[in-house]
Amino acid sequence: MAVKNYSKAVDDIKARVNIVDVIGSCVSLKRAGTSYMGCCPFHKEKTPSFSVSDTRGFYHCFGCGESGDVIKFVQKYYNLDFTDAVERLAAQYAITIEETRGKEDSKNDAYYEANRLAARYFFGKISKSANKGYDYMVGRGITPDTIKKFGIGYSGEDGRGLTEHLLANGVDKQTLLDLGLSGQKDDRIYDKFRNRVIFPIINVRGKVIGFGGRNLGPEKPKYLNSNESSIYQKKYNLFGINRAKDAMIKEGTAIMVEGYMDCISLSQSGIENVVASCGTALTPEQAKLLGRYAKSVILCYDSDQAGINAALRGIDVLRDAGLEVRVLNVDDGKDPDEYVQKNGKDAFLRLISEKSVPDIDYKVSMLRKSFDLKDHTQGIKFFRALARIIHGLDPVEADIYIQKYSREYGISEGALRREAESEAPAEEHIPVVRASQEDLQSKEPALSAADVNMERMLIRLIMLRSSNFERIKDYPEAFVTEKGKAIRSAIEALYSPGFDLDIKQISGELSEEAAELLAKIVERVEIGDEDKALSDCIERLDSRRRSKRIAQIQTILEMSDSMPEENVDQEQIKQLLKELNALQKINKGEK
Ligand code: CTP
Ligand code: MN
Repeated sequence: MAVKNYSKAVDDIKARVNIVDVIGSCVSLKRAGTSYMGCCPFHKEKTPSFSVSDTRGFYHCFGCGESGDVIKFVQKYYNLDFTDAVERLAAQYAITIEETRGKEDSKNDAYYEANRLAARYFFGKISKSANKGYDYMVGRGITPDTIKKFGIGYSGEDGRGLTEHLLANGVDKQTLLDLGLSGQKDDRIYDKFRNRVIFPIINVRGKVIGFGGRNLGPEKPKYLNSNESSIYQKKYNLFGINRAKDAMIKEGTAIMVEGYMDCISLSQSGIENVVASCGTALTPEQAKLLGRYAKSVILCYDSDQAGINAALRGIDVLRDAGLEVRVLNVDDGKDPDEYVQKNGKDAFLRLISEKSVPDIDYKVSMLRKSFDLKDHTQGIKFFRALARIIHGLDPVEADIYIQKYSREYGISEGALRREAESEAPAEEHIPVVRASQEDLQSKEPALSAADVNMERMLIRLIMLRSSNFERIKDYPEAFVTEKGKAIRSAIEALYSPGFDLDIKQISGELSEEAAELLAKIVERVEIGDEDKALSDCIERLDSRRRSKRIAQIQTILEMSDSMPEENVDQEQIKQLLKELNALQKINKGEK
């Protein structure tokens, strides 16, 4: 298991990312005194009451009271959970999220390396001398540049070239079998991909995790895909995500197609925000992955029945992940690949803007097709099914569709509304926005001996009794050194209530230096009364949070000075002053 060090990434983001940059790309901001102001994206307003301080890395709305740091903003605005917001910002600003490596990882490294070598082998085959794969791709309108861009390859026909090449390069037999690059019959080990064009599947971090191989002749199946392995789980990946993510962030939209070739041809035409689901049903994990980079998705599936069914299922999965969905039926040519090869980029973009429809309209139009409205019984069934679709929507959306469809199908608005409201409530999908303490953390905590000591003490306390982690897991700010943060991340990844953490297990997820530090802490840190030590630490952390909150409120009050007075909710200011007062009292009382 690789453990990602998010606390370190949070520090890097806060140090390197300008909040005005991030918010400014979503909200139009104007300078106002020492801060910036604009209209709040979190509630409806016509005059600005939303304020951003770049020096403090902080935003606050004087209308609705929403407030936080850059990560909280991205979480709320894009409806992401904390780690996904960190992933998105890191991707956007080229910040690496460090991973510490465990034993499993060296096996995975061997897998990645084998796949990398395989991808190079296949690419060498297609690009060096005449071969059927190259002719086939060129015949389908794919240029040598695109072949290079996607690392497309050819497998050869002999059925052993790849296996021999990889064995000769030190890849072991088991790895080849695990990855599905080779198969075994009796004692013979042979290439799985034979006479196929090869599409490498690459994850967001740029690693080759698997392959899809298209036949050039009648061999079955048409596409042969790598089997799943510890580095390749279909449900977490989308073909093309490694290249498309930047364009998705830029456009705010993702185009989702079914096939490898759809994705490749669109990219070749200059449409880059495109990924392929590769013929499988979209999973919530894939939707979540998209949600990191895009706010909305255009589903461009084939117009055959399989494509329609996939789109209908995909809509709900994407909606549940908080994405806005439109559907485009490509009907000139059988799929986006053929369409864009025939008509070009502009025609395809025009198709999207003129012919794509909101997901609900798409669902209803598909539903409509299976009923004969001249027949009353069927008409009633259609009407009920329509109400069921509307039932799942939020009130504003529901209202719009009730008006629209009652008009369109000549049914009374009241009846449709009652029917839509009457059903047993379906499960609600409220976006989970984790209340994070992150915004209470300072930008760059200055490391004092006391801080470092407390960090070590807490690590020692967790190692003494695992359940202690429960009490301090919501204080990530207590871990201040790089190694301390790495140790915390490893503990967090391994911790489960009721089980004791084992130092060996934790060390397995750490770098050598961090593991060494952990060993030292366990040996040396002296603790008298364990419980007392723990509550002292927590008390100190709480007090520090109060001080930060005090500073934060003072900043907000400063920011309110540059706001037009009529846009500032006075009740909110009163509340803030009250809170400030109370916090100051507690902190004084303690000293
Ligand atoms: N697919 C698969 N295995 C198959 C058939 C299809 O994994 N036996 C996946 C592939 O990712 C393929 C996608 O489903 O790209 C869509 O399938 P299909 O529409 O049949 O193929 P196209 O993408 O149109 O492929 P081509 O244009 O090469 O015919
Ligand atoms: Mn096709």
